[in-house]
Amino acid sequence: MKHIGILTSGGDAPGMNCAIRAAVRTAIGQGIEVTGILRGFRGLYENDFIPLNSRSVSGIINAGGTILRTIRFPGFLSSDIRRKCFANLQSAGIEGLIVIGGDGSAHGAHALCKEFNFPVVHIPASIDNDLFGTDETIGFDTAVNTAVDAIDRIRDTATSHERIFIVEVMGREHGFLALEIAIAAGAEVVMLPELPMDIDDVIAILEEDRKRGKISSLVIVAEGAGRAHNIAEAINRKMPGSEARYSVLGYIQRGGRPTYKTRVLATMFGCEAASALVSGVSDMMVGVSGGKLVRVPLETVIHGHLEISREKLELLKKMAV
Ligand code: F6P
Repeated sequence: MKHIGILTSGGDAPGMNCAIRAAVRTAIGQGIEVTGILRGFRGLYENDFIPLNSRSVSGIINAGGTILRTIRFPGFLSSDIRRKCFANLQSAGIEGLIVIGGDGSAHGAHALCKEFNFPVVHIPASIDNDLFGTDETIGFDTAVNTAVDAIDRIRDTATSHERIFIVEVMGREHGFLALEIAIAAGAEVVMLPELPMDIDDVIAILEEDRKRGKISSLVIVAEGAGRAHNIAEAINRKMPGSEARYSVLGYIQRGGRPTYKTRVLATMFGCEAASALVSGVSDMMVGVSGGKLVRVPLETVIHGHLEISREKLELLKKMAV
């Protein structure tokens, strides 16, 4: 293999740039030409290509977002569009592709491999940490830290005013981000899409907290489990005088400088993905398991079943007494 392409796809995640940098420098170090594809699979469809070298990826290790830019491109679900993308790769002389992104991008990467026998290696990047086959995705640690920092500030008001705060965090249909944030922020309750909770059960916990002498309480709700404003409204209605307030952290969680942990993980993934692709590996995702790099077939990633850690949930409950 003499020439590879690289793209970022789906929601941006802090650390994507670290992975681009690592993959580009690893490939260049092995004498491989690298082409950057702008705006994910859409750029692949529209031939939006730029040459990359070691200097093009200088000074980006600390930058959030992605220098290659990104987009959600539902068009890639169409086989005609995928065929055109494959043709564009062939015309540009690109012999293998690194895709950096989340769950939807992994599906796209797998389709390209399967239909055209085109070599693709996927790097998991999403603040949601919702890819099967890796303990952690690029951006997760940074997003948790960003959210916890914001919640620490909210806690000041919660304590001073003796209020209940409902904080809504991202995660799409999963609660991995919410649970991690809830433990680190010291929340009393976490509401997860995987384990739906009745609002009356939430209120029972909050009332119990008050009886035990807690002057303020924090509820973390994953966006897939409910809307913070509805929950705050229900609490105010059913617990008069509780002064429940809410905050939606939103895109604050997706931006910002990657933490050291995200940078190291992304650098390891970028290096591993480029080495794997160049050595002939395909239809594979790189990941981390028990602190070690692993390679997981994309078929397994796509069909794997993710589960919320009951141990972590128990830990949160034990700490919330
Ligand atoms: O997948 C990352 C994520 O931030 C989710 O947590 C969230 O539901 C979604 O992306 C928002 O997507 P968009 O940027 O397309 O609004």
